[in-house]
Amino acid sequence: MMEFSQQVCCSEVKVKVGRGVVKEIESLPGRKCIVHPKSIKPELKADLEVEIEDGESGKDIKNAMRIVDELLEAEFTRGDYLVAIGGGTVLDVAGFSASIFMRGLNLVNVPTTLLGMVDAGIGGKTGVNYGMAKNMLGTFYQPSLILEDISFLDTLPEEEIRKGMAEVIKYGLVLDKELYDFLSLNYSSILRKEQNSLERVIHLSALNKLKVVAEDERETKGIRVVLNFGHTVGHAIEAGSNFQIPHGLAISVGMVCEAKIAEEMGYAEEGVVEDVIWLLQLFNLPISPDQLKGLDKEQAVKSLSKDKKRRGEDILMPFPTRIGSWRGVKIPLETLRGFVVQCLGDGT
Ligand SMILES: NC(=O)c1ccc[n+]([C@@H]2O[C@H](COP(=O)([O-])OP(=O)(O)OC[C@H]3O[C@@H](n4cnc5c(N)ncnc54)[C@H](O)[C@@H]3O)[C@@H](O)[C@H]2O)c1
Repeated sequence: MMEFSQQVCCSEVKVKVGRGVVKEIESLPGRKCIVHPKSIKPELKADLEVEIEDGESGKDIKNAMRIVDELLEAEFTRGDYLVAIGGGTVLDVAGFSASIFMRGLNLVNVPTTLLGMVDAGIGGKTGVNYGMAKNMLGTFYQPSLILEDISFLDTLPEEEIRKGMAEVIKYGLVLDKELYDFLSLNYSSILRKEQNSLERVIHLSALNKLKVVAEDERETKGIRVVLNFGHTVGHAIEAGSNFQIPHGLAISVGMVCEAKIAEEMGYAEEGVVEDVIWLLQLFNLPISPDQLKGLDKEQAVKSLSKDKKRRGEDILMPFPTRIGSWRGVKIPLETLRGFVVQCLGDGT
């Protein structure tokens, strides 16, 4: 078992990684409400259980309000706990409910997907879908405890492991050269889900993400933007497929495109693009838009202007400078558009 704590603004976030760590829930003080998806039935004692739909439809605001209603009905108070067990979708909606209930109920995240363990469960962003818009409403709200129980990954399909690995690779590329090296040497044991390798990958990912979040929790200092490497082009790819192309695969191609832009503009050392492609390929992740089915490239390019990181006619891009390092660069939207047309159009 590995564990560490990180102070994020006014709260301490404790992380435990290992097999069976979910059992720690039983020793929490106070009453517990467990929120989980239909597909996962936790065998843990709880004062209240709320079951929600799996996947993106579970993130509708009506589910967040249903959780709140059940907490009120069961007379939960602020000293009690909401334990969110599930993939990123469940963590996002349950975290949102915890943050608005009496201005904040103690939150414990128990991610059950690799993406949840390395990304969605860490960092305190919560969100629900409202109307047609994904993540339209949300809060920043830190869990006090994150239990990363590797045993959940036993049943997770390889496709879902690969999608989560795209985010892990992102940390290696822009934040952590040691992680990059570990991934390139241990890719086969990671894909075989060997416990020690998975534990190390999850531990290093959580450390990297929480360190960034501690420096810039609310994305106001131009530091948290690093977590968006690959995501500007990645989101455009998702939008250009009406969100049919999975996020992990879209950001995989997005990282290749953005590294190319960084190299062509002279911000990245020569060879960075090759290093990005090399690692993604080891994990069988796509490196070219031609490997993605159902992408309307024109629609993708059009959606760039809706990027949340746009400020006026500029967009702040986190570019890798060399493996494990990065810098933020403001580039005109028009320049970015030109590069993206080139990248999505030329088949890499
Ligand atoms: N808050 C954040 O910072 C943040 C960051 C990244 C992503 N997200 C959000 O996370 C969501 C995506 O998360 P996700 O990829 O975990 O998706 P998900 O929650 O939809 O889970 C993916 C699939 O895996 C299944 N599953 C979950 N655990 C399983 C297990 N142990 N064994 C077998 N199957 C299992 C689910 O039923 C689902 O079909 C998106 O809504 C995204 O917006 C949030």
